Amino acid sequence: MAEQKRQIKLAAHIHATGHHVAAWLHPRSQIDAGRNAKHYLSMAQTAERGKFDLMFLADSPGIREGNLNALRRWPQYNTYFEPLTIFSAMAAVTEHIGFVATASTTFMEAYNLARFFASLDHISEGRAGWNVVTTAAKEAAANFGKDEFMSHAERYARAHEYVDVVKGLWDSWDDDAFPRDRESGIYFDPDKMHRLNHKGKFLNVAGPLNMERPPQGHPLIVQAGTSEDGKNLAATIADMVFLMEMSLDSAKRIYKDVKERAVKFGRQPEDLLVTPGMATIVCKTADEAKRQHEFLLSKIHPEVGLEIIRTQMNYVDIGKLDIDRPFPKELIPTDDSTHSRRTRELLAQNPGTVREMYERMSVARTAPLLIGDPIQVADQLQQWHEERGADGFIIQPAYLPGGLDDFVDLVVPELQRRGIYRTEYEGTTLRENLGLRRPASVYA
Ligand SMILES: Cc1cc2nc3c(=O)[nH]c(=O)nc-3n(C[C@H](O)[C@H](O)[C@H](O)COP(=O)(O)O)c2cc1C
Repeated sequence: MAEQKRQIKLAAHIHATGHHVAAWLHPRSQIDAGRNAKHYLSMAQTAERGKFDLMFLADSPGIREGNLNALRRWPQYNTYFEPLTIFSAMAAVTEHIGFVATASTTFMEAYNLARFFASLDHISEGRAGWNVVTTAAKEAAANFGKDEFMSHAERYARAHEYVDVVKGLWDSWDDDAFPRDRESGIYFDPDKMHRLNHKGKFLNVAGPLNMERPPQGHPLIVQAGTSEDGKNLAATIADMVFLMEMSLDSAKRIYKDVKERAVKFGRQPEDLLVTPGMATIVCKTADEAKRQHEFLLSKIHPEVGLEIIRTQMNYVDIGKLDIDRPFPKELIPTDDSTHSRRTRELLAQNPGTVREMYERMSVARTAPLLIGDPIQVADQLQQWHEERGADGFIIQPAYLPGGLDDFVDLVVPELQRRGIYRTEYEGTTLRENLGLRRPASVYA
C-alpha cells in the first residue's frame, strides 16, 4: 500500500461576521452573529462536515477602544460571545471537532481557568484547547481594577508560571483516582489526589482542582506570540503555534526556529504543530472570488481604513493622512515589536497608497490572502505545507457563514483528492486527531 502523504491540519478561525472589516455588510454574513448562538452551532457542524481539526475563537476581556466614529462601522470587537460558554453549546451538537478558546494569563485566575478548561474537556469528551494569551489590550486592565499595565516581559514571565500552575491543577487527580465502587462504598482514592501548594513569584495556588483529570490529560495548548518571549513560551509549553506571517519565507523561518527551540527544551519537533493564518475568499471561479473581494473593498469607509492602520501601528498618532498618497516613511515603526515587524513587511511587499495599505489589511490584517478558485487556494496551501512553512492552517474566511460553507464545499474536496487531507477523523479526542500524545501527569 502506498505510504500516506503528510496530512494538513485545519482550524476554522471564527470571527463573528467574518474576518473582513466590512464582513457584516456582505449579504452572506450573519448580521447579528456576535450574539446569535444558532449561527455558531451551525458553523461548528459545517466545519465538522469539512473534517476540520478544530474551531478557534479569539478573545479579549474588554471592548476595543479607539475612534468610535470608525468603530461604529466595524463591529468585530464590540459584541461577541465569551468562547468557553459558546463552545460548551457547540460541543453538544458535534462529535469530533475540537474547540480552542482564548483565555488570558493576565486577567483570569489560574484556578478558574483550569476548572473551565477541564470542564469543557469533559463536556466535549476530550476536544478542548486553550489559546494562551497574555493580553496586550490596555483597555482590558481597567476592567480588572488594574491601573498599571504589565510590561511585555513581565506578562510572559507570569505566563510561564501560570501555565505550570494550570497543568499542575489539571493533574490534581490521577487518571484512576475515582473507582466509584458501590460494593466497597469508596468513591475516590485520597492517595491519588495531589495538592499543588504552589507559591511562586506571581501566583499562590493550593489546589487540588474540584474536577477530575481531563480526558486529554491536558487540553491542547496553543500559543501565538512571535517575539523572542513568545517563541520561547511556545517552544516550552505549546502543542500548536498560531502564526500570522505574510510570506512563505518568514513562515519557514519561524517554523524552523520554534521547532529547534522545542528540541532545546527537550521536546521532539513533531510535539509542536505550526499553523499560520490564511484569509480566504474562495468561489467556484477566480473571477467570482475577485468580485466578492472588490465588493468588500468598496464597503470600507475611509475612517475604518485609517483605524485599521492605527490598530496595526499600536495606536500611535498617525495624524491626518491623505489616503490617496503613499504612507509617510517617517511613520514606519522601527521598534522590534511583533506588530511593527509585520507592518514593515507589509509595506515592503505593498508600497502603495494609504488606501492600498488598509485594503491589504482589511481581511485578517497581515495574513496571506487566498482569493481564487478551489485549485488556486489548494495550490497555495499545499505549497506552504510541503515546503515546511506549516503543518496546517487557521482558515480565516472573509465573511461568515458563507465563506466557511464555500471552503468546506470547494477546497476540502480538492485537498482530499490530492491525498493531503483526511476523509475521516482518525481518533476521538482533539489530541488524537492532531497526532499528539496524551501528556503524562506531572505526578507520574
Ligand atoms: C492567529 C492569532 C490569534 C491571536 N489571538 C489572540 C487573541 O484571541 N487574544 C489576544 O489577546 N491576542 C491574540 N493574539 C496575539 C498573540 O497572543 C500575541 O500577543 C501577538 O501575536 C504578539 O506576539 P508577542 O506577544 O510575542 O509580541 C493572536 C495572534 C495570532 C497570530
